Amino acid sequence: MKILIETYGCQMNTADSELIQGILSAAGYGVAHTLDEADVIILNTCAVREKAEARILGRLTNMLPLKRIKPGLLIGVVGCMAKHLGQKLIEQVPYVDFVAGPDQYRALPEMIGKHHGHAEVRTEFDRSELYSGCSPKRPKGVTAWISIQRGCNYVCTYCIVPFTRGAERNIPACDILAEVKRVAADGCSVVTLLGQTVNSYRDGDITFAKLLKLVAQVDGIEQIRFTSPHPCGFSDELIEVIATEPKVAKFVHLPLQSASDDQLALMRRRYTYEEYLTIVKKLRTQCPEIAISTDIIVGFCSESEADYEKTKRALMENRYAFAFLFAYSERSLSIAARSMKDDVPREVKQRRLAEIIDIQQKISKEIYQSRIGQKVAVIVEGFSRRDPGQAVGNTRDFKTTIFPRGEAEPGDWVEVEIEDATSQTLKGRFVRILSKGRHPVVEEQIDVGISLGPTVSEE
Ligand code: 5AD
Ligand code: SF4
Repeated sequence: MKILIETYGCQMNTADSELIQGILSAAGYGVAHTLDEADVIILNTCAVREKAEARILGRLTNMLPLKRIKPGLLIGVVGCMAKHLGQKLIEQVPYVDFVAGPDQYRALPEMIGKHHGHAEVRTEFDRSELYSGCSPKRPKGVTAWISIQRGCNYVCTYCIVPFTRGAERNIPACDILAEVKRVAADGCSVVTLLGQTVNSYRDGDITFAKLLKLVAQVDGIEQIRFTSPHPCGFSDELIEVIATEPKVAKFVHLPLQSASDDQLALMRRRYTYEEYLTIVKKLRTQCPEIAISTDIIVGFCSESEADYEKTKRALMENRYAFAFLFAYSERSLSIAARSMKDDVPREVKQRRLAEIIDIQQKISKEIYQSRIGQKVAVIVEGFSRRDPGQAVGNTRDFKTTIFPRGEAEPGDWVEVEIEDATSQTLKGRFVRILSKGRHPVVEEQIDVGISLGPTVSEE
C-alpha cells in the first residue's frame, strides 16, 4: 500500500508529516508520489485560522470523485484540525476514513491496516508521547527539520494550538543530538530546530542556548536555524550564542503580535512592547548583522484605531526583514472565543491588514534591495524546480538567494554577487566556491529555504 501525505500549516506539521511517513514506512507502507498512485491519502492539517480549515474542507470535497473512481482508497485527516473537530469532521465529511490527533500517530499503521469500513477517530492527548524511537523519513537533501518540543504551555488567548497540540513536552537532548548526528551522517548540513516556543526548551541543565551550542558541535552541521521563539525567556545567554556561534543563523523570528500593551495584555502575551524592544535592541547591538522577522495579528478583540496605529508604527520602526501578517480569526476552544467579543468589524480588520501588508512589503523590498552590489556568502540548499539551472540557498541572515548554479552543489558555501532583489528573494551571480560541502549533488532538493520565508498574509 502506498501513502501520500499532503501537509498544511506550519513547519511543525512538515516535520510531523516526515514522522508519520517514517512510522508508516517502518510498518511496510510505501510512498506515493501522485494522487493516482496512492492507496491512502493523509491530510496533515492546520486549525490556526478559519481560512486554513476552510481550505482543507475544500480539498476534501475535491477528493470525493477520487473515492468514487477508486473504491479501496482511504482518506485520513490528521493534525490540528483533526484534534479540533474530531468526530464532527466525520459528520461533516462522511467519506473520511480515519481521524488522528497529533499524539496518535503511532496508531496510524493499525488504523489503516485494520480499517473495516467504519471511520475511526483517535484524538486523545498523550502527555508522554514524544515519538522516541520513531525515525522521520525525510526527503534527500542538505536541510532537515528537527522537532525538539511538542505542545505549548503559553495559552495566548487568541490561539487554538494549546488545545490541539496539548501541553509542552521537551524531547531529551541526547535524542535530539542523536537525530542531528543521524541527519548529518546522511549528508545534511542545515538543521532547523522546531518548537512552538522553542526557547522555553529545557532538559535538566540544558537550556535552549546550550542545546544550540551542542548542535553546533556536531560534525558536518554548517547552519542552525530555529523557530519560533517566544519573547518571554529570550535570555541574554541565548542572545550571546546567536551573536557568537558562527554556525547559528544570524536570523530570529520574534513574534510581536501587537505593539499595544492593552492588546498584549488581552492576548496574554506576558510582555510589554518596551520589553520586546529591549530584546530587539540587544540582538541588534550584539549582532549587527542580525535579521529579524515577526508575526502580527490585527483586529483582535477590542483593538482600537490607537492600538492598531502602535502596531503600524512598530513595523515601520523595527524594519523587519519580513513579517507574517494576519487578521484575527476567532477559533472555538481558544480563551478569547470563550470570554471575549470578536468585535472589530471584518472591513476594519481587512483595511488594517491591507495597510500593513503594503508597509511591510515596501520595507522588505528596501532591505533586500540594499544588498544589490554586495558579495554575500550563501549555503546552497538545492535547485529551483522551475529552472534546475538555478541554485537556491540562504545567506547567514536567512535571505533566500537564487543564482545560476555554476559549479555550486548542495551543501557548498558559495560567494554570490547580488544583482537584483524582490521583497522576498535576492538574485545574483555565482562568484566562487568558499568551501565545498561533503555532499553529493542532490537533484530532488528544491526551493528549500523559501519555506520559512517571505512576507505573507492571510484573509
Ligand atoms: N487569528 C489570527 N492569527 C493567529 N495566529 C495564531 N492564532 C491566530 C488567530 N486566531 C497567528 C499568530 C501566530 C501565528 C503562527 O499565527 O501571529 O504567531
Ligand atoms: Fe501548526 Fe498551529 Fe497550524 Fe497546528 S494550528 S498546524 S501548530 S500552524
